[in-house]
Amino acid sequence: MSPTHGTFSETNSAEVVSARHAACTNPRLAEVMSALIRHLHDFAKEVHLSQDEWGLAVDFLTRTGQICSGQRQEFILLSDVLGVSMLVDAINNRRPEGATENTVFGPFHVADAPERQMGDNICLDGKGESCLFEGRVLDLEGQPIQGATVDVWSDNADGFYDVQQLGIQPPGNNRGVFVTGADGRYAFIGIKPVSYPIPDDGPVGQMLAQLGRHPYRPAHMHYLVTAPGFQRLVTHTFVGGDSYLTSDAVFGVKASLVAPYTRLHDQPTQWHAPFDFVLAPL
Ligand code: BEZ
Ligand code: FE
Repeated sequence: MSPTHGTFSETNSAEVVSARHAACTNPRLAEVMSALIRHLHDFAKEVHLSQDEWGLAVDFLTRTGQICSGQRQEFILLSDVLGVSMLVDAINNRRPEGATENTVFGPFHVADAPERQMGDNICLDGKGESCLFEGRVLDLEGQPIQGATVDVWSDNADGFYDVQQLGIQPPGNNRGVFVTGADGRYAFIGIKPVSYPIPDDGPVGQMLAQLGRHPYRPAHMHYLVTAPGFQRLVTHTFVGGDSYLTSDAVFGVKASLVAPYTRLHDQPTQWHAPFDFVLAPL
């Protein structure tokens, strides 16, 4: 009997299920689903999954879906804490030597953040330790890129993004969009970011707690840097010395992105975070 019409057994389970989509006209879908089914069945066999455990998993996924809304995406959070977001990012953003590395995008980017003038202060709530962020957007040959868009966002001194505290923080707090001139330079005043927990009041937070994992991300500034003819760069600069650098809840830390946050010599109350972004060509 061919697997297409064969009866299901513990031994041939994945083959029998995948054979059912032999008529699928989308070869990529068939390939992805066959591999998914094979790994899922191998997993259930390897851990000898009990009925109760599978029930718990279904309940967990149900609750993960139920908490999702226009403002909350618990499945992306699940992908983040399982390291899948960073893995898919790594597979799809292999860059030449010298190009700035990508990291996780996260849920707190805002598509229509305010465009600001170079040097502007993006901290609108007056909280936190002031920090000068500056650097250049360069190509692989070290030439400045004119007209690059540098979209930045960070949490406030209490560890929340403006979109998490509507009505509490001023809209656009600690975010803004800057466009480079001929010298490729960007500069703005923000705050030295602080470490914060990812949203952990849902099923993903409960899972982390049961696994003995904390929900914290090391302090970072987010950047989305784009320019015509270049690959889109989604990245952060991390504050060196942060105690969560080696245990980021979403595995976003890369050594090349840990930036020197130092005190400005002539203004000891202000921090300085210089960082150049190097874009890879399309
Ligand atoms: C963030 O850095 O904003 C973030 C990334 C992944 C999950 C939650 C938050
Ligand atoms: Fe963040």
